[in-house]
Amino acid sequence: MTAGTIRIAPSLLSADFAALGDAVRMAQDAGADLIHFDVMDGHFVPNITMGPPVLKSIARIARVPLDVHLMIENPDRYAEAFVDAGAASIAVHAEAVVHLHRTIHYVKSLGVKAGVALNPATPVSALQDIAADVDYVLVMTVNPGFGGQTFIPRSESKVRAVRALLTAEGSRAPIAVDGGIDTHTAPRIAAAGAEILIAGNAVFGTSDPARAIHELRAAAGAAVGS
Ligand code: DX5
Ligand code: ZN
Repeated sequence: MTAGTIRIAPSLLSADFAALGDAVRMAQDAGADLIHFDVMDGHFVPNITMGPPVLKSIARIARVPLDVHLMIENPDRYAEAFVDAGAASIAVHAEAVVHLHRTIHYVKSLGVKAGVALNPATPVSALQDIAADVDYVLVMTVNPGFGGQTFIPRSESKVRAVRALLTAEGSRAPIAVDGGIDTHTAPRIAAAGAEILIAGNAVFGTSDPARAIHELRAAAGAAVGS
């Protein structure tokens, strides 16, 4: 993941779980750059979703990278299973990990990109000593656990601060944003420096998900001139 262009990552969390394959094919055909795969364990967040076997099935038909968002305790224990199942990148939550430097380098050692996710209440300074090591930063723009929540406005200044911190540390790692991203919030957050826009409800909660992907890209692209 390199800096520079807006990428759209539809989140399968809001897709019909009885037709995940169709959702992946549709998203790819509509130009999705990544597929975002939300993993919840019922402990780190109050919800339970999907695991490696589901990812493995999706990987059989995926033509774009599968981005795994681990909203789980002890991500070290499961990272390898997700890599074996086809993950291209894995984000772990700073709040879920005691030895974040070790975890990030462990994920990298598995041959995939490693990201750090920050909850809304987690300060940007949590990134300070890991900034140069991460392949991307995932800024949660809602509290993790559920799709369809309302974007937290303070996220804009947070993304600007993360971008500034990364730049100061000599990193061009892109910033992903996750939660409440739609055609209203996408331009604002893209202008603030987010380059990977993760969207669940705004894509799969609509009657025309392909059109929604195009509209998200257009809205964000207009804000950053791409
Ligand atoms: C929330 C997940 C998100 C979720 C976003 O905890 O990490 O990826 O799918 O959903 P929307 O776009 O509906 O807010
Ligand atoms: Zn997510």
